[in-house]
Amino acid sequence: MRPKIVAGNWKMNGDRAFVQDYMTSFKECWNEKRLDQFVGLSIVIVPPAILISSVQESSKNMGVAGLFELAGQNVAEYSAGAYTGEVSASMLKDFGCNWSLVGHSERRALFGDRSSVIVEKIKRLLDEGLRPILCLGETLAEREQGEAEACVKSQLDSILDAFNVSELSKLVLAYEPVWAIGTGKTASPEEAQAMHKFIRSVVSSKSNDLAEAMIVLYGGSVNANNAESLFGQDDIDGALVGGASLKPEEFTEICAQCGQSALS
Ligand code: PGA
Repeated sequence: MRPKIVAGNWKMNGDRAFVQDYMTSFKECWNEKRLDQFVGLSIVIVPPAILISSVQESSKNMGVAGLFELAGQNVAEYSAGAYTGEVSASMLKDFGCNWSLVGHSERRALFGDRSSVIVEKIKRLLDEGLRPILCLGETLAEREQGEAEACVKSQLDSILDAFNVSELSKLVLAYEPVWAIGTGKTASPEEAQAMHKFIRSVVSSKSNDLAEAMIVLYGGSVNANNAESLFGQDDIDGALVGGASLKPEEFTEICAQCGQSALS
């Protein structure tokens, strides 16, 4: 059984007051939903970089530090130096992150994160001992043209070619069809399962053991109503949640459903 992960990507939302309220309510919801019963479920919160220290501090004050891990939404492709506006892997680590997203479709589409850049970002993370959550996914046009698998394969192959099995074993993958992100449309559980299975088959070209052990999350309009059926699929090991992760009540409900799926 692979470990389960639910990660909440806040994107460019929130401020310090939001963090305070969030942690208060996260604590209540955690207790209410008895999330401590789910051994093997990791919860990762992915705040904007400038709020990471507020999340750290506030979670300590509320006594919920340790119930979740922290991730960056992005990382610089360089280690340090004259790169105005960037945040390095060592800075993320210094502020308590042990994960970072890489290659989110918004980064790919809006900020030019192409494969060669993503490879460099993954290298910087691995150098610091941080684990990358690599996002993959096709656009609506690609899906409609029957190119969804080819698109995801090419995104994945460029990473599989650049790293050895031991390095790749640090990665978590997140399949996020671009047409399902923030749109309220989600892939059906069957569509998602088919792509997750395909992703595992692409990874198995590198190593069968790696493919078997690889945690593959689903993302794209995951909410408390559709999570259970997604988590019921064999090759879906958790979720990368955007909009719904901003509501602690709903986010913890998704976490509970994920934990529950591991028990059944
Ligand atoms: P969404 O975002 O859940 O709001 O669709 C998911 C993501 O972009 O990670």
